[in-house]
Amino acid sequence: MNETDDMLTLAQQAQDRAHAPYSGFRVGAVLRGGSGRLYAGCNVENAAYPQSQCAEASALGALVLGGDSRVTEVLVLGPGDRPLAPCGGCRQRLLEFAEADTPVHLYSASGEHHSLTLGALMPHAFGPDSLS
Ligand code: THU
Repeated sequence: MNETDDMLTLAQQAQDRAHAPYSGFRVGAVLRGGSGRLYAGCNVENAAYPQSQCAEASALGALVLGGDSRVTEVLVLGPGDRPLAPCGGCRQRLLEFAEADTPVHLYSASGEHHSLTLGALMPHAFGPDSLS
């Protein structure tokens, strides 16, 4: 079994539960916390479109509520054939709890995937260290 299989299974379950009636674009995200526990989230859209929430933000809420404060691995899963690349806002959200070398696995529903680091997705970032 691949080491990301457990994350992918949870991401598929989260994607199935997405509330995406406006875009039809269902996303699942799974985070591994510093404790080793996994936290999933889905996108939750709203009739007032700007009030919609990305899957990564939902997963981060679960992680914080679960008592974790670090993210050590990320997997995001989108629909279609192209691996989902997290939006800019979610790259910033993840940076709050992760490191530049934190692995991020990008998946599509068809199984296309590749892995890179958060630092590669978000170079020259403004993060918690920037304030000190
Ligand atoms: N979405 C996510 O959940 N995560 C991302 O990183 C990119 C976009 C959602 C937001 C919206 O519900 C739908 O995908 C289309 O943009």
